[in-house]
Amino acid sequence: VSAFFVTGAGTEIGKTYVSCALLRAWSESGVACDAFKPVVSGFDRADAAQSDSGLLLGALGEAVSDENIARISPWRFAAPLAPPLAAKAEGAALDFAAIERACRARIEVRGDRVLLIEGAGGVMAPLTDDRTGLDLIAALNMPAVFVAGSYLGAVSHALTGLAVLDARTIKVAAVVVSESAVSAGLDATCAMIARMWPGHVIAAPRGAPISWCAPLAHRLAAQQSI
Ligand SMILES: Nc1ncnc2c1ncn2[C@@H]1O[C@H](COP(=O)(O)OP(=O)(O)OP(=O)(O)O)[C@@H](O)[C@H]1O
Ligand SMILES: [Mg+2]
Repeated sequence: VSAFFVTGAGTEIGKTYVSCALLRAWSESGVACDAFKPVVSGFDRADAAQSDSGLLLGALGEAVSDENIARISPWRFAAPLAPPLAAKAEGAALDFAAIERACRARIEVRGDRVLLIEGAGGVMAPLTDDRTGLDLIAALNMPAVFVAGSYLGAVSHALTGLAVLDARTIKVAAVVVSESAVSAGLDATCAMIARMWPGHVIAAPRGAPISWCAPLAHRLAAQQSI
């Protein structure tokens, strides 16, 4: 049974969108799954259903209760800033080892469920004062699902992110190009990435039914990743 770290070329790129599509596709095909977004910033309790944690719970078919939110996202901060700054704004500090332990605990208890762990922001977004999200993926030694956009410049951002993952010997199970609101061409972006990166590149058309996700969901669920 698999577990994947969902990372991407930047913030607001589609990590939660893609994660929710995968969770729904698995649920529909009877594959048990779970999600974890350990650190979330910009969290508004009054609008919890629209937070990443709430959206992931919705895709899992679970209630957006305080208890479930705390389970899926133990570290929540109100300020819409990078995690170390959002924590600091509340007089808190993030402890890398504690976040790593929490992720490991979720990996341990996943049983026969496919687990997705969503990172905060882009692949090298600061996670704590001196570590990035990339350091967490490397520490967990998990394969990644990398989400890119299709805006002008997205290919460079995608290949840059993929290069740093490769440099840390992190396996990337798939690249998903989530069509940007202002797009330079979804299929063209996928084709350019696919010519320069030797793996599966999948297009997620904007606002389309999530059937795009079924083959990817099937392939990921069948992998013995960790
Ligand atoms: N393929 C798509 N089709 C339709 N909407 C999309 C698609 N990809 C992303 N979006 C929308 O774009 C916005 C940003 O996406 P999302 O929240 O998934 O980004 P993220 O990478 O998870 O951001 P964060 O760094 O805050 O976690 C959301 O409103 C999402 O619904
Ligand atoms: Mg998100």
